Amino acid sequence: MKRIIAPSLLSANLAFLHRDIIMLNESEADWLHIDIMDTTFVSNISFGFSFTKYVKKYSNKPIDVHLMILEPDRYIKIIKNSGANNVHIHYESCIHINRTIFSIKEYGMKVGIAINPNTPVFLLKDIIKYIDFVLLMSVNPGFSGQNFIENTFKKVNETKNLIIDNYSSALIEVDGGINLGNSSILFKNGANILVSGTAIFSSPDPKKVIHNMKL
Ligand code: DX5
Ligand code: ZN
Repeated sequence: MKRIIAPSLLSANLAFLHRDIIMLNESEADWLHIDIMDTTFVSNISFGFSFTKYVKKYSNKPIDVHLMILEPDRYIKIIKNSGANNVHIHYESCIHINRTIFSIKEYGMKVGIAINPNTPVFLLKDIIKYIDFVLLMSVNPGFSGQNFIENTFKKVNETKNLIIDNYSSALIEVDGGINLGNSSILFKNGANILVSGTAIFSSPDPKKVIHNMKL
């Protein structure tokens, strides 16, 4: 199966955002990952929906939006209008998650459920059939540059089994602390999509890191 790399713009140089988007257009990156935060679900603020709109304007890649916000169902329409292709909502942030999943689908976007490092995979049992992605957080959400939590390897296996057991076509995405030291083993273990910020943007040659992460 294809190995998908989604660079996280949280680590881009925002003073030169256009330059970084053009660099990613020319790279082997598959999607652009945008982290939206609300200061409450996570203790940080990043970008809003107008940011997504401008990225979409200059990027030639699908936009993968990761919502780290409470009650994301309030924003589905505005997210659609901002140009998002995929939307990830946190299991921990939704009261009526089934309704939110179907609302995202009705707007024609793909839907992923993100789970925090300490949220068990089995909680997804009743919704795994309806979603396009499981986004396993391999750091505590809110900040780039954190260390990869090793327990994620086990969770990739558990997610793979859950998908197989329920005849789901969901893909497994992993986000946080991904670098050239763990990317290949994650792909080999069953991850389909890797989100990476610091390892890509702190390199003098981001395109090469993206290329090497797919090997
Ligand atoms: C963390 C974000 C990640 C983050 C990854 O809350 O969801 O997408 O940008 O950055 P690195 O790769 O630096 O951990
Ligand atoms: Zn993210």
